[in-house]
Amino acid sequence: MLKPIQIKKDLYYIGLNDRTKHLFENLWPLPKGVSYNSYLITDDKNVLFDTVDICYSDIFFQKLETALDGKQLDYVVINHMEPDHSGSLGLLRSKYPNVQIVGNKRTADMVEGFFGITDNVMVIEDGDQLSLGKHNLAFYLTPMVHWPETMITYETTEKIIFSGDAFGTFGTLDGGITDSQLHPERYYDEMIRYYSNVVGKFGSPVQKALEKLSTIDIKYICSTHGPVWTQPEQINKVISIYDKLSRYEGDEGVVIAYGSMYGNTEQMAETIAYELAQQGIKEVIIHSVSKRSHSYIIRDIFKYKGLIVGSPTYNNKLFPDVEYLLSKVEGRDMKNRYFGYFGSYTWSGAAVKRLTEFADSTKFEIIGSPVEMKQSMSLDTYDSCIALGKAMADRLILDRK
Ligand SMILES: Cc1cc2nc3c(=O)[nH]c(=O)nc-3n(C[C@H](O)[C@H](O)[C@H](O)COP(=O)(O)O)c2cc1C
Ligand SMILES: [Fe+2]
Ligand SMILES: [Fe+2]
Repeated sequence: MLKPIQIKKDLYYIGLNDRTKHLFENLWPLPKGVSYNSYLITDDKNVLFDTVDICYSDIFFQKLETALDGKQLDYVVINHMEPDHSGSLGLLRSKYPNVQIVGNKRTADMVEGFFGITDNVMVIEDGDQLSLGKHNLAFYLTPMVHWPETMITYETTEKIIFSGDAFGTFGTLDGGITDSQLHPERYYDEMIRYYSNVVGKFGSPVQKALEKLSTIDIKYICSTHGPVWTQPEQINKVISIYDKLSRYEGDEGVVIAYGSMYGNTEQMAETIAYELAQQGIKEVIIHSVSKRSHSYIIRDIFKYKGLIVGSPTYNNKLFPDVEYLLSKVEGRDMKNRYFGYFGSYTWSGAAVKRLTEFADSTKFEIIGSPVEMKQSMSLDTYDSCIALGKAMADRLILDRK
């Protein structure tokens, strides 16, 4: 028998940890695993919030059964249909045939498409309420955080939000479930990585969702991944992380992401970084695109205002992993960045040309002059790299005032 964890009276954690998968969405590394969080409120009517990845449905159903303790399951609220949360929905309906599925119009369309379920689906609209007895739910549609059907459910009596992916993090819950049972600092960087990797493109829908949430008093945030946020300072902290990320606001610092096969282009990166440090910029993060997963590079690009990209010419194009990184940056509609770039070639240059096209296609502020190197570092190239580093530092320092 597996027991759920009681978070507070009438509120149970039915989630679990995934320490098996290497890649979330088959894309993003999970060195610290991930949790799939599902919650149950018991009342006159019993309601489940989201389910878990189907790989873990056995554990999930055992915990749910124990929590229900013979009572019936009346509702399952689907805040998000991505299969890491809705994966066990079909099985849930076969185990609990009378459970009513609660979601919006778009949820209903996906429930039909993925599970062939059309009966006993309650379609709610923005602002609708549902009474459970002592507890009462209000639904807030928050489309495109990060799918069209996403919504947040607010339990008005205890002031709990079931926020779906919003405020979620990578990383398993090792013992503690709530922020007061663990060191929350452990999760901040993994929250930024989750946001930038998964939600990153949808800054403006996230801003709209935050506006809706700003009208309500929140005592608990129950998201679908990572800790349950209960401490006022943590609640403020995670909301401010989301606010900052969705406004694409970076801190002072520079990510230098480069490709290099034999180390020549790499020396340009080192030279630029050296000058940034000389000018007093302390947050300088150099990523070799071949060595570091894009997941972490994207995270750091969301964290810092400065971005400098470098690449050798490779078969008359950019080095492939650099091209891939640019597509990820483009795909997230990154804004408010200071952008510099450099490249190299041996017989005919294409890298800087392509980086110029990229720079022109963004709304980034271009910093300094691009540096193009033939073969290896000359004194001229060295000076140009120093100038690029200095220009970036000057721009960042200007913002201090
Ligand atoms: C597979 C491959 C393709 C290349 N394609 C080009 C090219 O299209 N144009 C060019 O000028 N140099 C090309 N080069 C030469 C590189 O510019 C040279 O290897 C240089 O040292 C790469 O920079 P790195 O030392 O930072 O890796 C190519 C090299 C390799 C290994
Ligand atoms: Fe999701
Ligand atoms: Fe998720």
